[in-house]
Amino acid sequence: MDYERQPYRRCGRSGLLLPAVSLGLWHNFGAGKPLDGQRAILHKALDLGITHFDIADRYGPPLGAAESAFGRLLPRSLRDEVVVTTKGSNPMWDGPYGKGNSRKHLLATLDRSLARLELDFVDIFYLHRDDPDTPLEEQVATLDHLVRTGRALYVGVSNFSPQRTAEAARLLRELGTPLLVHQPSYSLLNRGIEESLLGVLEEHGVGCVVYSPLAQGLLTDRYLDGIPADSRAAEGRFLTADRVTPQVLAFVRALAGLAGARGQSVAQLALAWALRDSRVTSVLVGASSPEQLEANVAAVDRLDFTADELAAIDAAAKEAGLAG
Ligand SMILES: NC(=O)c1ccc[n+]([C@@H]2O[C@H](COP(=O)([O-])OP(=O)(O)OC[C@H]3O[C@@H](n4cnc5c(N)ncnc54)[C@H](OP(=O)(O)O)[C@@H]3O)[C@@H](O)[C@H]2O)c1
Repeated sequence: MDYERQPYRRCGRSGLLLPAVSLGLWHNFGAGKPLDGQRAILHKALDLGITHFDIADRYGPPLGAAESAFGRLLPRSLRDEVVVTTKGSNPMWDGPYGKGNSRKHLLATLDRSLARLELDFVDIFYLHRDDPDTPLEEQVATLDHLVRTGRALYVGVSNFSPQRTAEAARLLRELGTPLLVHQPSYSLLNRGIEESLLGVLEEHGVGCVVYSPLAQGLLTDRYLDGIPADSRAAEGRFLTADRVTPQVLAFVRALAGLAGARGQSVAQLALAWALRDSRVTSVLVGASSPEQLEANVAAVDRLDFTADELAAIDAAAKEAGLAG
């Protein structure tokens, strides 16, 4: 592992440092992809100083496949050099206990995750989403229990509203288990967290690990000449071709000019932009090849922006009809 390759940032007011660029295993680590390719991406990540791997019980397909692959591929000698996360909440099996944030479901799904990961504990366990049908007190008491029973070192929430995040942080603090981190979506195409979530996280000392900072690949040069057959938009499961709109393409072309002037690719500019705010601890990228990952980590070579550059990015979004 090359620990000089990228900066490690403090996650909120905790003792935990995370790399500026982290790897997510949502796509590219399922049973449909060759194991050698998955191994190559994982080893490249480790070479690049990526110490933080984001997984969830559902990631695959099939459900659980990403955890099983990671469990198989992580060299055991590196266990204490990496941060492994998983999440629970989304449907995993039939019946009333197969989903949601009840104590009943969360304990069972994490125990199944640990078996697939071949680990005794995860470093961070997340509630993948809020569950309005389960009292928040029960949700956070379960997180506290997971830490106290050694199944997780830290806990986080994902896709929670600013108000529910503040409530969860307060309740967890009372229990003595701080809320480590929130995991929201954030990119140049989705700036919602700037409105109030980032302020709430700062106030409560909670870190922010953002997902889909490249908008699943839209904020790269991937789609400038059509939809490649091996792309996520061609696969069409979570990113559909209709999201590759003329407005998005116009924005990306404008970004390409701005990125070129900084000596960066569009993807590198998009990642550096998401990291410009020190309240963002880490960007969680996906990669379908080791080359993509290597190129993305190079974003950290130029994280500073001038006020003029930021204004030009905002103007380009507006010009493309994507903002204000
Ligand atoms: N908490 C949640 O609800 C939630 C939701 C979504 C994601 N996540 C987490 O966030 C992680 C990242 O999400 P994401 O995969 O959507 O992130 P992303 O980084 O926005 O998109 C990754 C995709 O963009 C393309 N790409 C990446 N680098 C590229 C480059 N340099 N040039 C061209 N194309 C490039 C690849 O698509 P191709 O396959 O087309 O090559 C890659 O699979 C997930 O793995 C997961 O851990 C969490």
